This record gives sequence, structure tokens and C-alpha cells, in this order.
Amino acid sequence: MADMDGFKEASAYGFDQPQKNEAFFLKGNENRGWGVKNRLARIFNPKSGHTVMLACDHGFIMGPTSGLERVDLTINPLIEYADCLMCTRGILRSVIPPTMSKPICLRSDGGTTILTDLNLNRVYDVEDVVRVNASAMAVMVACGDKASEMITTQNLVHTVDMGEKLGIPVLGVTAVGKDMARDARYFGLATRVCAENGASFVKTYYTEEGFEKVVAQCPVPIVIAGGKKLPEEQALELAYKAIQAGAAGVDMGRNVFQSAKPLAMMKAIAGVVHNGLTPKDAFQLYNDEK
Ligand code: 5RP
Repeated sequence: MADMDGFKEASAYGFDQPQKNEAFFLKGNENRGWGVKNRLARIFNPKSGHTVMLACDHGFIMGPTSGLERVDLTINPLIEYADCLMCTRGILRSVIPPTMSKPICLRSDGGTTILTDLNLNRVYDVEDVVRVNASAMAVMVACGDKASEMITTQNLVHTVDMGEKLGIPVLGVTAVGKDMARDARYFGLATRVCAENGASFVKTYYTEEGFEKVVAQCPVPIVIAGGKKLPEEQALELAYKAIQAGAAGVDMGRNVFQSAKPLAMMKAIAGVVHNGLTPKDAFQLYNDEK
């Protein structure tokens, strides 16, 4: 029995301060569970509302991609400068130190590679996602690809179902269908399909024309992939224009790990994404950090 001697009467009821109900800071995620929101708040910085995700999952379709031959040497030193690491479970278990504390967005599907037809994927067992303590699951959806559209959409639906049970958000990754133009109309459709099927956030590509429409019609946050390696200043401009058009962050890979100075690039991208640096100022930061 608890000792009541010296029991102190409760008195700090804060009668003059109603308990706050704070709106969740990420669009379209207000009505999700506490676990989903908490994990999203680890990936997205609640102050800026934005995220710099470092993508290094390329090997699952491309093999030893340039810059990722030795993930331990090239990616591990960058992790502390990212808000989130996006990788496969194989890389996670083999080279990422379990002592690191950044959230993981786990690539949660796999299947065909660049040697055959891309995107005919199956999803991982969700128990494995829990075992590695992932904060989000990334699943590809290949809109417009006859061979894989249905299976990849089912993959997303299944993953969202599992994620809702376990409180883990899902990142819908828009693949580029072979027969569809890579324009705002296509990415508008693909991002919307991901969101409608329950993704908490969606990854897509920036388009020079109409990207603000892609963002506006998507009811959940959008992060952009960097795509193929560009000169550093152009990559910073890409990130800047995407953020200006309403993107909530970047999930960049090659433009970081294939850069001449990946660490400087991480810092410059974070300057754009979190602090609103212009491409000129961010490129200056890159050069200062080199
Ligand atoms: C492939 C992916 C990659 O992670 C994505 O393309 C990001 O990398 P990059 O900036 O190099 O394009 O999701 O499915």
C-alpha cells in the first residue's frame, strides 16, 4: 500500500489555462493516429514543416550505383545532417549503425530491377518494418504502367492497411510510367492516386510547368526526388523552386552522394528547405563549406 505520510494535496489544476488542442502541422494528416503523427513529426521538422530526406535506396533496382558503392563510407557521415534516411532493410542491417537516432523511411517493396521491366514489386512483411524501428514505409506506385499499375497500387493499399494498424505512415513513391509524359498532369494524377489510397506523404518529381498545381491538388505533403545528377547550383535551384511551389521537402539521393562535396551539399539543401535560402545564397554556402 502506498505510504500516505507526507501526502501532498494536488493543487496545480491551471484553472485559468484550458488544455490546448493543437492542430497537427502537416496537411492532410490531422485525422491520423498518434503514432503516425509522432513518426511524421520525427521526419518533418515541426518548426519549418519541412524535411530533408537522404535517399540511398537506389541499389535495390540499380545495384552498386555511383556514390553508393560503399554506403558506410559515403552515406554514414551524412546521416547527422539529414532529417531522415531512406534506405532498404539490407543496407540498414549491414552498414547503418543502430546507434544512430535519425528516423528511417524504409523502402518496403522490392522486385524487378533495371535489367528487366521495372516496378513489378511486392511488399515486405510489415513485422520486419517494426523490427528495424522504421518511422515510415516507402512503396512505389507505377501509374500508367500496364504491367505493374494494379499490383503496385495494391501494394500501397496493403501497406497503408498495415501502417494504420501499427501507427506507421506510408510514403507513396510515384514511379514514372513508360507510356506517360513526365509532366504536371501525370504527376498530379499519380500523387493524387497515392494520397487517395491512404499515403501520408508522397514523393514525386519537380516539373518546370504547373508544379504548384501538383502540390495544390495533393491533400498530403509532397517531397521531391532529385533525379539525375545536376550541377550543384541547378540542384539547389530545383529544391528552391519546389519549396516555393509548396513542396514540404526533398528526398534526394544522387544530387547529394554524387556531388563533389556531399556534406556541403547536404548543408546547402537544408538551408534552402528549412531556412528559405535562395539558390544563390545556398550555392555560396556550398562553396564556403567545400
Ligand atoms: C527510387 C527512389 C529514389 O530514392 C529516388 O529516386 C531519390 O533519389 P534521386 O534523388 O537520386 O532521384 O525512390 O525509387
